[in-house]
Amino acid sequence: MKILVTGAKGMLGQDLCPVLEDADFVDEIVETDIDNLDITNELLVQKVIKAEKPDIVIHCAAYTNVDRAEDERELAYKINVLGTENVSKACKSVNATMVFISTDYVFDGTKGQKYISSDTPNPLNFYGKTKLDAENIVKKSCQKYYIVRTSWLYGLYGKNFLETMLNLAQEDKELKVVDNQIGCPTWTVELSEALCDLIEEKPEYGIYHICGSGETSWYNFAKEIFKIANIKVKLLPCSDKDYKTKAKRPKYSVLENNGVCDNWKKSLKSYFELRID
Ligand SMILES: NC(=O)c1ccc[n+]([C@@H]2O[C@H](COP(=O)([O-])OP(=O)(O)OC[C@H]3O[C@@H](n4cnc5c(N)ncnc54)[C@H](OP(=O)(O)O)[C@@H]3O)[C@@H](O)[C@H]2O)c1
Repeated sequence: MKILVTGAKGMLGQDLCPVLEDADFVDEIVETDIDNLDITNELLVQKVIKAEKPDIVIHCAAYTNVDRAEDERELAYKINVLGTENVSKACKSVNATMVFISTDYVFDGTKGQKYISSDTPNPLNFYGKTKLDAENIVKKSCQKYYIVRTSWLYGLYGKNFLETMLNLAQEDKELKVVDNQIGCPTWTVELSEALCDLIEEKPEYGIYHICGSGETSWYNFAKEIFKIANIKVKLLPCSDKDYKTKAKRPKYSVLENNGVCDNWKKSLKSYFELRID
C-alpha cells in the first residue's frame, strides 16, 4: 500500500509518518508539505497525485491558527477549503481513498453531551467553518473517504497548549486558565496509531471521531500537566469571559470516540515519559 501524506512536517504529520513506516501493510510513504506540494496549487496537486498514484492520501495540511484565522480569512479559506478541494479532486482522479483530518470545532458546544459523528455541526469560529466546508467538499467529491474529527492535539513537534503552558511556567508568573470550556486532549502519537488502524481495517467510508478518552477543562488539563511535570506554578481558573480570544470556542466539544485512544491522563503520562527521554 502506498500512502501520500500532506502536511507531513506539521505536528501530526511528524508523528504519523514514523507510525506508518512501522506498519507491515504499508509499502511506501510519500511525505509532502508546503515546500514540495502546496495544496493551494491545483495543477501541482493533480500532477503530483497522478504521478504518485497513492492508494491512500492522509490530508493533514491545514491552516491551524484558530485565532489568527478570524483576521486572515482569505488565507485560511484558501488553504483549508480550496486546498482540500484540490486534494479531494486529485484523489478521485486516481481512485485513492482520502483521509481528511477535521476538528471538534465544527460543533457549537451547546449539545451538553458528547457529540456523535452524525450530529449537526454549527461552527462558532471561522477556522471551524473552513473545516466544515472542507468536510462537505470531501463528501461530495470523493466516494472513498474517511473524515476523522479529532480535538485538542498535542505532540512533540508543534505549537500546542501543553508546550505553551510549560513555556509560560518558566516566566514564573500567575497563570489564569479557562475552566468553562470542556474537551478532550489527544496525543498525536495515539491519533496516528488509530489512523493506521483505520486504514488497515477499512471500515465503512464516512465520518469518525478519534480523540483521547474522557474529558477535561483547559484548567484541569494545565493542572495535570504541571502535576506530571512536577512544576510548581500559581494556576488560577478563570471563565472565557475573563480570557478573551479572537475566535469563539465551544463550551463542550467532547467527541464520542470511535477510536481506541487511552484516557487522556494516561496518555499525558506516556507523553512525558517520551518527552523526558
Ligand atoms: N492542532 C489541533 O489541536 C487540532 C485539533 C483538531 C484537528 N486538527 C487538524 O489536524 C490536522 C493536523 O494539525 P496539526 O496541529 O498537525 O497542524 P500543523 O502543525 O499546523 O501542521 C499543518 C501543516 O500543513 C502545512 N501547510 C500549511 N499550508 C499548506 C499548504 N498550502 N500546502 C501544504 N501544506 C501546508 C503547514 O506548514 P507551515 O507550518 O509552514 O504552515 C504544516 O506543516 C489539521 O488538519 C488540523 O486542522 C488539529
